[in-house]
Amino acid sequence: MPSSRLGGKPVACSLLEQDLVLFRDRNSQPHALLDRCAHRGVRLSLGSVVDGTLRCRYHGWRFGGDGRCVQIPSLPSDASIRANVGVPAFRCLEQDGYVWVWIGAEPPQPDTPSTIAHFHRYRWKQGTMLFACSFVSAIENSLDWCHAAFTHPWTHPHWFASKLHGIRDQPYECRVTEHGLVVFAPVTKDAAAAVPAGALKIDFTLPDRIAFCVGSDDPLIVLRFVPVNPAACRLEWLARRTLPLGPRIRWSHRTPTVFAQDRKVLESAQEWYDRGDPNFERSVEADAASLLVRRVIALAAEGRWEASRRHLHQRRIVNVRA
Ligand code: FES
Ligand SMILES: [Fe+2]
Repeated sequence: MPSSRLGGKPVACSLLEQDLVLFRDRNSQPHALLDRCAHRGVRLSLGSVVDGTLRCRYHGWRFGGDGRCVQIPSLPSDASIRANVGVPAFRCLEQDGYVWVWIGAEPPQPDTPSTIAHFHRYRWKQGTMLFACSFVSAIENSLDWCHAAFTHPWTHPHWFASKLHGIRDQPYECRVTEHGLVVFAPVTKDAAAAVPAGALKIDFTLPDRIAFCVGSDDPLIVLRFVPVNPAACRLEWLARRTLPLGPRIRWSHRTPTVFAQDRKVLESAQEWYDRGDPNFERSVEADAASLLVRRVIALAAEGRWEASRRHLHQRRIVNVRA
């Protein structure tokens, strides 16, 4: 949940088919509860925040950040509330412009989300878009070196480059990292060398983060494709602002055209995957990054990332027409 979207009202939010409601208490601390009132199931996100508690819109029951019911207005004044009246509450923390919720039964590993390099040095805009496609396809698209000249008229540097110089051979490099993989150009000559300082770098961090960096490790754009269900995800985007003015993070209602262009092609393909036979797919060498990130996500989902990453192809140079 983007920090700039969570103010004095409760906000509904879905994650892996769980419907949640988030709100802030009196100290501005975020809390996440199941979006279902313990009384008659009304969505708590329809209610309001009163004195740091969440009040249901139907009969006014109130719940604290730990999910316990703290007030039932229809009870006689001398009656007490049973201890087992409440809604499930989830672990929650705020970091680098987002409120993070952990819905797993076991504690998270690692116990905090990955950070953004020098986040507090910059000012940011953030926004949300729903994509009716799997989060894996959206991540593959973000690492795909060849689509921009066709999918992104007037919005993408590669489209302008292709108009100026035509479609050209362009080698890119793909490297497995501790936390996912990076795709970058220009390629390095030395297999063990670091990513060149001036490179355009697209950094994928498990489970769902893409960072675009140009010339440094401080990202210009950070995308997260949060899985809502197997066939839909929510893009949470964060873009660095050029002028150092105004609030640190500003909420944007705009739908950036470049993301809408990706959404259009991805949603049209998802319809075929939903029909259940992915064997129609054919790939070429240029799809190396897409195929590799698929593998990385699959290994992580099976809990085998740490054990397997050393055996993955560590470095690959791919020559593409882009
Ligand atoms: S349904 Fe929430 S108070 Fe009755
Ligand atoms: Fe794209």
